[in-house]
Amino acid sequence: METVTAPAASGLISADSGPNSAVSGLDLAALAAANLTPVLGRYFERSWARGEGHRLYDTDGRAYLDFANGIAVSVLGHGHPAVTAAIHAQVDQLIAPCAAMGYAESTVRHAKLLAEFLPEPLDSIFFMNSGSEAIEAAIKLARRVTGRPGIIAFRGGFHGRTIGAASITSSNINYRLGYEPLLPGVYLSPFPSVYRDFDGDEARAVEVSLKHLRELLKTTIPPSAVAAMILEPVQGEGGYIPAPPAFLRALRAICDEHGILLVADEVQAGFGRTGKMWSFEHAGIVPDVVCVAKAIANGLPLSAIASSRALQERWGRSAHGTTYGGNPVACAAGIAVLETIRAEGLVENSAARGAELMAGLRAIAADDVRIGDVRGLGLMIGVEFVRDRATREPDGALCEAVIQGCADAGLLVISCGVEHNVIRWIAPLNVTSAEIDEALGIFDRVLHSVRA
Ligand SMILES: Cc1ncc(COP(=O)(O)O)c(C=O)c1O
Repeated sequence: METVTAPAASGLISADSGPNSAVSGLDLAALAAANLTPVLGRYFERSWARGEGHRLYDTDGRAYLDFANGIAVSVLGHGHPAVTAAIHAQVDQLIAPCAAMGYAESTVRHAKLLAEFLPEPLDSIFFMNSGSEAIEAAIKLARRVTGRPGIIAFRGGFHGRTIGAASITSSNINYRLGYEPLLPGVYLSPFPSVYRDFDGDEARAVEVSLKHLRELLKTTIPPSAVAAMILEPVQGEGGYIPAPPAFLRALRAICDEHGILLVADEVQAGFGRTGKMWSFEHAGIVPDVVCVAKAIANGLPLSAIASSRALQERWGRSAHGTTYGGNPVACAAGIAVLETIRAEGLVENSAARGAELMAGLRAIAADDVRIGDVRGLGLMIGVEFVRDRATREPDGALCEAVIQGCADAGLLVISCGVEHNVIRWIAPLNVTSAEIDEALGIFDRVLHSVRA
């Protein structure tokens, strides 16, 4: 790759960076070194020129089948025509009156449409900009509405990087390291990690995790002091681990018994990702608060919490606020996302294509002892690499080698898990069977080559 040290005189990266041209040879990593923060971690040191459908193109013009989706964000693929048209139309009309100035049509319409996709009584939407912000809002709502300080979260969960969200995050020590003291009043209880901690015994995983939770409520914080329990119904960063439905139902019952709010973090698992619109639906429960972001606007920054109107009325007018939240352009994109999901049956496609991907991955795993577990729901599938199936010792190095090998071969997948030893498969919701086959073929070939 040619190394470029300065942008073109026009201030644009490249004069020929239009939709149909690769930005030939431009090494953005080298260009970024001068001024872009060294703090941000990246899965790849590749330079991206453009996205089209389910492919990302690098600055050398190489195409990659994108099964990472910007970490579950570009779920309709890149440059989806309905989303792009909605954005263009809204940009021409009104970009930002700012939330506190009054009402913008796309924001109001998006709230209405999003509420239609949520179960009753979750009909009230508070828009923000990022997943972390939605988590912060849920914590604030829970504390003010209940008048209680305590928040219970679950080990291995990831909820974001702001201090409140980091305080309930434990998917990796790096999210907490050096940031103590974090938010007081947070208590972590075990998540039923069926494969890793219970060798596949789901009933025991539920029993033991609930036993710890009940002990926590008996010995450490009384239920009467707990405002909320917050969890990802399917853990994302923690390793693509679905909570057993019985566990979620038990949490719902404990929360109901004690007036505790149940908050579902659907930031990664929501919007059809798991083969249902919301991952909590697999357990047949309805949370009190749902946090959404990522897929909501197919790449524009937008997030929200949803609850019943009654709950937000108890939270109270001006109890929370935002400048950019519910930006009309992002909401116009959000409407296009939901309309497309509905019109094209993408929740159903996620379930059907997910089943194909799961079957293909399990077939590959059957012949490869380095894969300890293949699990997930819909198009949210984790493949866990181990050094030894008996001990389940994680193999993060192999996982990373496979990920980079897949990228070299034109397939983008990324890792998750505390030991970075799980490949997460996050195909777009409108993925085709042919693309699933293509991805499985690349994965299989790379696995064999890494073995050699
Ligand atoms: C489940 C979950 N919650 C919250 C967040 C935080 O979202 P953001 O990075 O938009 O702040 C993420 C991001 O990966 C997430 O996966």
